Amino acid sequence: MPKLDDRLKAVAKLIRSPTHADIGSDHGHLLKALLQSGRIDQGIAIENKTGPLNNSRKTLAGLNAEVRLADGLTGLQPGEADSLSLCGMGGELIVKILQAHPDRVPDDIVIQANRRPESVRRWAQIAGFHLVDETFVVGRNQFTIMRFHRNASGADPAYQCVQCDAGERFGPILIRRWQPHFVDALLREHQYLMHLAGRTQETQHRFEVLSRLLTDKLGR
Ligand SMILES: C[S@@+](CC[C@H](N)C(=O)[O-])C[C@H]1O[C@@H](n2cnc3c(N)ncnc32)[C@H](O)[C@@H]1O
Repeated sequence: MPKLDDRLKAVAKLIRSPTHADIGSDHGHLLKALLQSGRIDQGIAIENKTGPLNNSRKTLAGLNAEVRLADGLTGLQPGEADSLSLCGMGGELIVKILQAHPDRVPDDIVIQANRRPESVRRWAQIAGFHLVDETFVVGRNQFTIMRFHRNASGADPAYQCVQCDAGERFGPILIRRWQPHFVDALLREHQYLMHLAGRTQETQHRFEVLSRLLTDKLGR
């Protein structure tokens, strides 16, 4: 896929649908790659700032895409898109955008939160979306990419057999797959938290959850 870094390449691999909307499209490269690779037929780019909006317009000129100036889901009508992505923002902002117009959230969503992916996992369990895939990408930074599908039928099976707190914080599918680059990142974080002076309540809790997870999986 052209012009995408490893993070957005991993996002693109989780998207395939007729009409896809990207909120916070900025440079517009994700939609361009999705259109050019045939993973989507039509794109809707949504931006709430004029600079990034113009970047999207430039990138998507001549392609089957509409670029809209709007705040989050106010730029999308119910049922207009089959899938949605929100990438490169904090988890809390992503949740705020999703909660503002629940009726406009398509059935398939792909999310890459820069911080606090656990906020998004928590939102999904309450809003009736099941986690169907997760990817972990390590580059200069590390990113979790999550794909959710609307499913009104009870508890999300992705969390079965995974310590609940650990699943929400670190990703139940990633924990089940337990791939080496993910485990290395957890071990690095554990070392960092262990030597962190003056842990806050939040970092102390994270440290405890991570310690329990590593003990359970690695017996240490
Ligand atoms: C850090 S950029 C990420 C760009 C791209 N999605 C990526 O992952 O590379 C976040 C973008 O989201 C846009 N944004 C933030 N809040 C938004 C909102 N409520 N509605 C639409 N766009 C928003 C910002 O203007 C910015 O261009």
